[in-house]
Amino acid sequence: MTGRQRFSSACQCRSVDRPPVWLMRQAGRALPEYRRLKETYSFVELVQTPELAVEVTLQPVRRFGFDAAILFSDILVVPEAMGQPYGFRDTGGVVMDFAVSSAADIARLSVAQVVERLSYVDQSLRMLRKELGEQTALIGFSGSPWTLATFMMEGGSAEKFTRALALFRDDRKAYYALAEKLTEGIVAYLRMQIAAGVDALQLFDSHGGHLSAAEFPEASARWLREIIARIGAPASGPAAHASAALKAAGPEAGAPPVIVFSLGTHRNWDDLVGTGANVLGVDWQYSLAEARQAVPERVALQGNLAPALLTEATPEDVAREATQLLVAMRGRPGYIFNLGHGVPPNARLENIAALVETVRSFK
Ligand code: CP3
Repeated sequence: MTGRQRFSSACQCRSVDRPPVWLMRQAGRALPEYRRLKETYSFVELVQTPELAVEVTLQPVRRFGFDAAILFSDILVVPEAMGQPYGFRDTGGVVMDFAVSSAADIARLSVAQVVERLSYVDQSLRMLRKELGEQTALIGFSGSPWTLATFMMEGGSAEKFTRALALFRDDRKAYYALAEKLTEGIVAYLRMQIAAGVDALQLFDSHGGHLSAAEFPEASARWLREIIARIGAPASGPAAHASAALKAAGPEAGAPPVIVFSLGTHRNWDDLVGTGANVLGVDWQYSLAEARQAVPERVALQGNLAPALLTEATPEDVAREATQLLVAMRGRPGYIFNLGHGVPPNARLENIAALVETVRSFK
């Protein structure tokens, strides 16, 4: 099996020779070849220049032989394309040109130009699809409406993301206006990525865990479900391609599988399954064996090695912990090996190599 076949099969819970492996934030600061490019180009230049975005996307694939590549970009490009530009502080952290703080600010955000303003993503993905060929799968992504709203309302990184939560609690109508607009922009963006040939789409709901279990369904899961329904992701499970519902789905039929990664929300399994995701990411704080019990077999699971192991442990520790996860998931058709969150910037390269080798040689 090629990496592309292995990854696509696992997303649809079909059998594989071994679990596919890729890592969230596999490109970036942990790699010396990325740090070298950063001496010449800013992050935003890397993201917006297709040749450079393609190069940075391919760097971790060349070095480690992952089964899938994830486009090098950021979730903040969608707010930017809707009229709220971002950059980075020298001391670290995201800073946006302004914070969204009123109904008027929400009204000013515009979906109309999202696809045009993000045409560099379209170009990057088309180049990547060609470069990767049959060997390696290509993953596109977007932030979730809830997670984007948290950044947009703080105007960047914050110690506590309280403003979006306050809007959701105190002015539900205004929160829905923002979430609807984001949903609209995200759907347009993802349709463009589908047309460019991605093999799967991941929705990052990295701030889902800031919500209570009672708030999560309306503040986040509902919009994830709407996005997935509108892009026409295949019904989950191995028989999906034969389903009449999919055949009747119209021009979007044949849309790629969707992965939902919602950090810190695993007390909401029913809501997560209810989004219609083909794959659910599991964060490192949760037991993968318990996730296996909680989630129906037609939905694949992805995760969940603790990212801190890549910085603090030895390659032997990493191999042992990775093996435990592989054993816990043995015999489950839909399983994709990953971390429980992104690769830390100070990850040790020998630890990443040990992780990949452990998955690749697992019998
Ligand atoms: O996974 C990948 O390799 C693909 C690239 C990718 C990046 N960001 C590159 C990046 C993806 C998928 C993201 C998603 C993203 N961006 C998320 C969701 C995933 C998660 O980690 O929870 C979030 C919350 C963001 C917003 C964001 N972008 C933050 C909080 C930061 C860190 C700011 C800082 O100074 O540390 C970024 C910057 C960013 N995005 C970097 C990279 C490689 C570092 C930029 C640099 O090189 O200095």
